Amino acid sequence: MVCLGNICRSPLAQGILESKVKDLQIEVDSAGTAAYHIGNSPDPRSIAVGKKCNIDISRQKARQFSPSDFKAFTHIFAMDRSNNENIIAKTTSEEDVKKVRLILSNQNDVPDPYYGEAEGFENCFTLLDDACHQILNSLHNESR
Ligand code: 4NP
Repeated sequence: MVCLGNICRSPLAQGILESKVKDLQIEVDSAGTAAYHIGNSPDPRSIAVGKKCNIDISRQKARQFSPSDFKAFTHIFAMDRSNNENIIAKTTSEEDVKKVRLILSNQNDVPDPYYGEAEGFENCFTLLDDACHQILNSLHNESR
């Protein structure tokens, strides 16, 4: 799960998907394309919106997306088009490119809630919960 800062959207996406795949052997992680918040905890507003649904993201620490992630992960979900482009720019093979997609199946961006109000975080949660539900279904289909 990749956003810009790895403190608002992608930590929530990680926590939500982890909560849905808990019985499967799937590693979920998140990162930011920017370096601003490396080592920081998620934004308190993301922690709060997760907590309402018993999803604890408070122990996550932000890290920057690394080209080694193309080797480490089978699927890379970008929160918006700008981050998608930044990830694609780091690919070195067609195999890498195929791993990268926008998290919302309608190709919309998950709006960046950082400079907004709490409502933006609620909206993120709703969008990501639905997207992670769809991801889980498609992972099931791929493994058949
Ligand atoms: P995120 O949100 O990409 O969802 O983690 C942001 C967090 C921090 C900043 C921008 C977006 N920032 O400019 O510091």
